[in-house]
Amino acid sequence: MSRYPWKAVLITGASSGLGRGLAEVLAAPGVTLHLSGRDAARLEGAAQACRARGATVAARVLSVTDAPAMAAWIAGIGRLDLVIANAGISGGTGDAVEGAAQAQQIFATNLGGVLNTAFPAIEAMAAQAPGADGVRGRVAVVASLAAFVASPSAPAYCASKAAVQRWAEALDASERKRGIRLHAVCPGFIRTPLTVKNPFAMPGLMTPEQAAIRMLDGIAAGRVRVTFPWRLYAMSRIVGALPPGWRNALMSRLPAKPPTDQVPRSAGG
Ligand code: NAI
Repeated sequence: MSRYPWKAVLITGASSGLGRGLAEVLAAPGVTLHLSGRDAARLEGAAQACRARGATVAARVLSVTDAPAMAAWIAGIGRLDLVIANAGISGGTGDAVEGAAQAQQIFATNLGGVLNTAFPAIEAMAAQAPGADGVRGRVAVVASLAAFVASPSAPAYCASKAAVQRWAEALDASERKRGIRLHAVCPGFIRTPLTVKNPFAMPGLMTPEQAAIRMLDGIAAGRVRVTFPWRLYAMSRIVGALPPGWRNALMSRLPAKPPTDQVPRSAGG
């Protein structure tokens, strides 16, 4: 039995990290999971793990940057209680300056990909009856605590996360009137391929399963902004509130986030 009320859930970027953690935590008899990712073998591994927990799983190899394909996929599914726009990429700069290609690729995935997921989901949810949790449907956008701090070593990442966090929170106010909820999820550090190369200490580092449970509990409680762990959230709000010149001086002294292999070398700028 699932501890959550959602019977039909869609997750993008479900083949690894947080996305896979969410899928496994939600997987239970009576639950149908629609999972997407780009790597067929890894996605099938996640699907099998969820089936082993009793869920029905439909897996689709698809890039969130392909707007027409995302719209066609989501519109063709039928009822969706919860859609999680999780797919995202990170790219640090090391000691270099972030180039145009890397910035554009990060925005296309982390911002464009979220919109390509959320808009078709909202359109489908508007036409469905309220579910067990009293709403027509929920869209959770995975932002980050990076939304609150402009880190000099990850400009596009921080900006893309700030964009989707504000967008989801603002849209929640108007979509509530139609019985649809949006949630801006802002986790701290999670042990996944996205953080594996970080050369600095990551306070409050969580497993994907721990992060998935905190995130789903926050959504089930109806919170518009779901943030964790609270100490890191408080710290990011304080640092984010500093005058930008002071903040940049402070953050430039911290170890830089290195370039990752999530953005191809040619896009590294
Ligand atoms: P990850 O690299 O394990 O997972 C990201 C997933 O998104 C992968 O399955 C990847 O294949 C998929 N993906 C990337 N581009 C895609 C595209 N164009 N189309 C479809 N799928 C695509 O990393 P992680 O950490 O699990 O990241 C998941 C989300 O959590 C991201 O949005 C990330 O920014 C966010 N996040 C991660 C934190 C961390 O400390 N790991 C902290 C805060 C937020």
